[in-house]
Amino acid sequence: MRPTVIFYGFYLLCFGLGVACVVCVCLWNSKWRGGFAWDGSSLQFNWHPVLMVTGLVVVYGNGAVLYRIPLTWGQNKLPWKLLHAALMLLALVLSIVGLCAVFDFHNAQKTPNLYSIHSWIGIAATALFAISWTMLITTLMISMCPLATILVTAIVSC
Ligand code: HEM
Repeated sequence: MRPTVIFYGFYLLCFGLGVACVVCVCLWNSKWRGGFAWDGSSLQFNWHPVLMVTGLVVVYGNGAVLYRIPLTWGQNKLPWKLLHAALMLLALVLSIVGLCAVFDFHNAQKTPNLYSIHSWIGIAATALFAISWTMLITTLMISMCPLATILVTAIVSC
């Protein structure tokens, strides 16, 4: 079988598993954990698994493999770069809102924040992702507009 066909087979399998994962986490939280709200109750916490899995696992994963999809090869890279940046921005926004849900919930319940290995690794992962996204945007700006190079160099040298 041709490598491209094998790639698409596995890509679609992974994509399907990602979508199934989001659907299952949504069902788990809506049917068995009481649903969703934004009021400091445990229903607010339920947004956390949904948004973290959707943002940092599924949307991020698809954004990361975008350039590996044969459809994107040998074409004008700019639209794909913009789509890559947009998917990464969406992943970042979803994960930040997911973190707000759990921090808000802890604060409302007077529970201390960042008391577990999960929370430390999680906050480090999100912070590193935010830094990497900022660098992605900087590189994209530089490749699109040479004037941005001067601006970024000026800011960095300050
Ligand atoms: C990429 C995925 C995830 C990241 C980056 C992440 C990050 C975090 C962070 C930073 C906290 C600390 C919040 C605070 O101290 O106020 C936290 C808490 C928590 N998260 Fe996640 N999370 C992720 C996925 C999940 C998932 C999928 C679940 C459940 C299925 C989950 C369950 C919890 C629970 C129960 C807490 C509260 C207890 C604790 O702080 O360990 N998380 N998460």
